[in-house]
Amino acid sequence: MIKKIKIDHLKPGMYVSDLNNQWVPAGNKSRSGKIGSLATIEKIRKLGITEIYIDTNKGIDCAKGECLEIDPVKQLQAHQFESLKTQSDANHSPKRIPLETSRDNAEKSYSQAKGLIGDILEDIKNGKGIDAQAVDATTDDLIHSLNENENALACLSFIRTKDEYLLEHSVNVGILLGIFCRARRIEPDVMRQVVAGGILHDIGKILVPNEILNKPGKLSGAEWEEMKRHVTYGEQILDVTAGLSDITRSICRQHHERLDGSGYPRNLPAKEITEFGRMSAICDVYDAVTADRVYHTGMAPNDALRKLVEWSIFHLDKELVYDFIRSLSVYPVGTLVELSNGRAGVVLEANRRSPKHPVIKVFYNVRHEHHIEQEIVNLDDKKVSMEIINTLDARALKIDISGIM
Ligand SMILES: [Fe+2]
Repeated sequence: MIKKIKIDHLKPGMYVSDLNNQWVPAGNKSRSGKIGSLATIEKIRKLGITEIYIDTNKGIDCAKGECLEIDPVKQLQAHQFESLKTQSDANHSPKRIPLETSRDNAEKSYSQAKGLIGDILEDIKNGKGIDAQAVDATTDDLIHSLNENENALACLSFIRTKDEYLLEHSVNVGILLGIFCRARRIEPDVMRQVVAGGILHDIGKILVPNEILNKPGKLSGAEWEEMKRHVTYGEQILDVTAGLSDITRSICRQHHERLDGSGYPRNLPAKEITEFGRMSAICDVYDAVTADRVYHTGMAPNDALRKLVEWSIFHLDKELVYDFIRSLSVYPVGTLVELSNGRAGVVLEANRRSPKHPVIKVFYNVRHEHHIEQEIVNLDDKKVSMEIINTLDARALKIDISGIM
């Protein structure tokens, strides 16, 4: 059970939970773990921490009367998130062929999709229309690759190139929607329309002036209004494109609408936001917050999932957020995890049948803070005795995950 206590009541043997511990400074590599000594408690105290969360299932409990009240909503969210670690989707088959075999095809599909978005943006700038047949062909390629092994494309979506945010974000949202649809067993024809919508959802951004689109600082009121217009521009472009379905167009139209009516451009109430509009909002936010941009550092995937849960109170569809987390697993591809043997690695293949047991590329010694020879470890292998004890922030450790995947 997660409990909140005053720092004065923290003792060696208690397990500090990472849940809600947003206070850990970016330089710290660990947000949770068992307290081994009084010196560690002193270090935490010196950070200015007065209250802390402990997990009594993993360490000793506090005495009666030492437990503080926890925000019940946050506690429920934390509990629900933890419970996802043991939920199995026994019917899901994330791969038909191994990652190493599917990687080449995935790379080809990914770069073709990026190329297509680039061509479309160029055509629009030159006053030409969108080639819907080319969109269909690219969508089919991506889905074929997802059916071979969805982890291969998920890995690629983590390798970002500076200055190609719009291209990569468009492809990534298409991929995330594809993974989401597969997990929700949405029929193939509908899935194609949804993935195409993901690829095209931000196409209107090409008509937003570059100085606004790439402005490093905060946008002024007028600039923000112009930025929001990318949805309307996108709708106008897609409306004159023959061969696109209503579902595809609705994803462009609704990806910034929010369930409490605070979204744009129409401030739609929840009842008017479609299932696919809701799904696209989740995928759009997830990819945007995990990306490094000129003006902000991206979140670790696991932290981004927790944020989605927080935002599901008002903005996002709660049931779909949990479905989305299940579809990526609580340790999504690209997550840096610390193992019980003091090593760390990045998740290469999520495991939806047994979320705590992904395939990991181990490359780092956490205790001695240096890189080690890379090794692929499948935690689902019965002969492997190590387990995940923590998630780490790669950026705080100055590790470039994309160079390792
Ligand atoms: Fe957008």
